[in-house]
Amino acid sequence: MSVNCGGKFIVFEGCDGVGKSTQVKLLAEKLSDLGQKVCVTREPGGTEAGEKIRDLLKETRKIDPICEVLLMFAARRDHFVKLILPKIQDGYFVICDRFYYSSLVYQGILKQVSVGDIMRLKQMTVGDFEPDLTIILDLDVDISIERVKMRCNFDEYDEMSRIRYSTVREGFCKVSAAFPFCTTLINADGSPGAVFSKILKTIRQHLNVSV
Ligand code: TYD
Repeated sequence: MSVNCGGKFIVFEGCDGVGKSTQVKLLAEKLSDLGQKVCVTREPGGTEAGEKIRDLLKETRKIDPICEVLLMFAARRDHFVKLILPKIQDGYFVICDRFYYSSLVYQGILKQVSVGDIMRLKQMTVGDFEPDLTIILDLDVDISIERVKMRCNFDEYDEMSRIRYSTVREGFCKVSAAFPFCTTLINADGSPGAVFSKILKTIRQHLNVSV
C-alpha cells in the first residue's frame, strides 16, 4: 500500500508522562497558524470504534497480552481506514499520539508478544504504510512518574511501577535505534517551549516543511 498524496503523518511516541499531548497540541497550533490543514488524533482511539476499544481496554482488568494486541490492531485498522488515510489523501497533516511502535514496546517488549506476530498484524492492518516522521520523546523515568501522579488518573495504564516505566523507556530507545531513518529521539527534559523548539528543528530537517 503506498500513500503519496501531499499530506503528512507525524507520530508522537514515548512513555506515559513524557509530554506527548502538550507537544501534539503545540504542533497542531503551529501548523494551523501557518495555514495548514491539521487533524489531531490518538491510538488506541480516533474513531468511534477505536474509542470504544480504548474504553474496553481501560475497563478490562488483566487482559491477556494476545487479546490486548489484537484489540490494539483492530482499533488501528479502523483508525487507518476511516481517518488517517482519508485525511492524508485530503492533504492534511495528521498528528497522532502513538502508533504501532507503542504495540512493539508495550505488547512486544513489556508483555512478550512476539515481534514477528506484531509485525504480521501491522502488515495485515496497515500494510507498508509508515509515518513520515515519528518523534519519540525520552525522559527520566522518575520525572515521567511524577507527572503521571500529578494527573491523578490512577487507572491500569498509570500504575506506578518503576520497572515498567524503565522497560518502556528502554523499549522506545531500542525502537528508535532499530528504525533510525524514520524516528527521532528527543530529550523531553525541559520547558514545553524548549522541547517544542527541538521538535520544530527535527520537522524542518526531516520533512522539508517551513515551520
Ligand atoms: P496514552 O494516550 O498515552 O495514555 P493516557 O490515557 O494516559 O493519556 O496511551 C494509552 C495507553 O495505551 C498507554 O499506556 C500505552 C497503551 N498502548 C499500548 O499498550 N499499545 C498500543 O499499541 C498503543 C497505541 C497504546
